[in-house]
Amino acid sequence: MQRSPKVVLITGASRGLGLELARLFARRGASLVLTARGAADLRVVSDDLSRLTEVVALPGDVADPAHAVRLVGLGVERFGRIDVLINNASTIGPSPMPRLDAYPPDALVEVLRVNVVAPLFLSQLVLPGMRERGTGVIVNVTSDAAVQAYPGWGGYGSSKAALELASRVLAAELEGTGIHVYVVDPGDMNTAMHRAAEPGVDLSYLPGPEVPASAIVALVEEETASFGRFEAARLARTGGGAR
Ligand SMILES: NC(=O)c1ccc[n+]([C@@H]2O[C@H](COP(=O)([O-])OP(=O)(O)OC[C@H]3O[C@@H](n4cnc5c(N)ncnc54)[C@H](OP(=O)(O)O)[C@@H]3O)[C@@H](O)[C@H]2O)c1
Repeated sequence: MQRSPKVVLITGASRGLGLELARLFARRGASLVLTARGAADLRVVSDDLSRLTEVVALPGDVADPAHAVRLVGLGVERFGRIDVLINNASTIGPSPMPRLDAYPPDALVEVLRVNVVAPLFLSQLVLPGMRERGTGVIVNVTSDAAVQAYPGWGGYGSSKAALELASRVLAAELEGTGIHVYVVDPGDMNTAMHRAAEPGVDLSYLPGPEVPASAIVALVEEETASFGRFEAARLARTGGGAR
């Protein structure tokens, strides 16, 4: 199996921030493991990015543990490892968003399953390999709704607050292992999720996901630079020998 500089698993890669992240990592030559529920949209992305890099894409729900196991298994089978996990897929919950005094409990459980339990379970699945290698990056995408008390945003916001705290505890538990955990708030973006959060509101003034995607890629590049340097050094030695 050929070893590429980086293997990046991105959830929610069929549109919005996840798609932009996948595009940027593809242009940098990272191998990609992608998922989203909508098979047709994911297929379009996979076909498109396969012209730039190696891609495996598996449609499914991140909150389905069997899907998560298959997804990580497929990535490891194809590329040998997962270097970077980006937990980007998320749900806003019912649209319009109910206030907490009327939030249907089942809907709240679903929000927590997708936004908190799924990222943690995916982390549990990639951690053994990362521990073995002594390197790895986990990026959990959060929101200012995790810390600001916006009326109507309580279900989604409390899930992001839980994700942030879980990420911090995980980071503390992983101290000294070489595995780093980040929470990243991309800021307001004009995406399908934001339009579902504020139906009927003109959000065309908001930026797209390009700027936060570049910042997240820069963060990951910084973190994983040593992988790239190792590859560059190895290739340089090979080239030198042939001269
Ligand atoms: N947009 C904003 O203003 C904003 C602000 C702060 C934070 N964020 C965060 O940024 C991240 C990306 O949001 P976005 O605005 O780019 O959203 P988006 O455009 O709606 O894209 C969401 C992506 O996640 C996938 N997805 C949703 N639920 C899924 C599930 N259960 N299993 C697998 N895939 C799932 C969607 O595809 P399918 O529907 O086909 O599954 C899609 O690919 C989220 O974590 C969000 O909370 C967004």
